[in-house]
Amino acid sequence: MLYRVKQFFKSFNAKVSEKEINWIRNNLTASEQKIFFKLPTYEQRHSIDVALTVKERTGQLDERQAKLLIRAALLHDVGKINTGLNPITKSISVIFDIFNKQKKVPKKPRFLQGYYLHPYFSVEILKNEGIQDEELLYLIGNHHNNTEIEKNYLLKVLMDSDGEN
Ligand SMILES: [Fe+2]
Repeated sequence: MLYRVKQFFKSFNAKVSEKEINWIRNNLTASEQKIFFKLPTYEQRHSIDVALTVKERTGQLDERQAKLLIRAALLHDVGKINTGLNPITKSISVIFDIFNKQKKVPKKPRFLQGYYLHPYFSVEILKNEGIQDEELLYLIGNHHNNTEIEKNYLLKVLMDSDGEN
């Protein structure tokens, strides 16, 4: 819970540096960048932090896998765009989830759909932009799926890094 409180306050003074923007431009394709920069600054910050954590853990990966994982980290939460999820509604969602024992996803409000379903929304948004990289879409679509975590090393690194940021 303390982690959630810290995360909440961190979101208010989130910044992205010029150097980081250049780094993103070097790691994402033009259409991926177009989607990434639609994220609010605090979500961009979170995704960059996840990508930087991931980057430190690419030691045993080949270059292709390392690049794929960084792209996945930068894009994993784009499904939150236009769902009404923000630091306040996210806090409401976290509390709602404590009482939502059966993990049912309500139709309304939209931010709860964003909270539970954003990995699927991320995949939809990327597919709509013509991104068809199956491995990338798998990692993003499953980044909250605990039943998959032990099946794929890249997914494990992504999920662990997400959890630490
Ligand atoms: Fe997520």
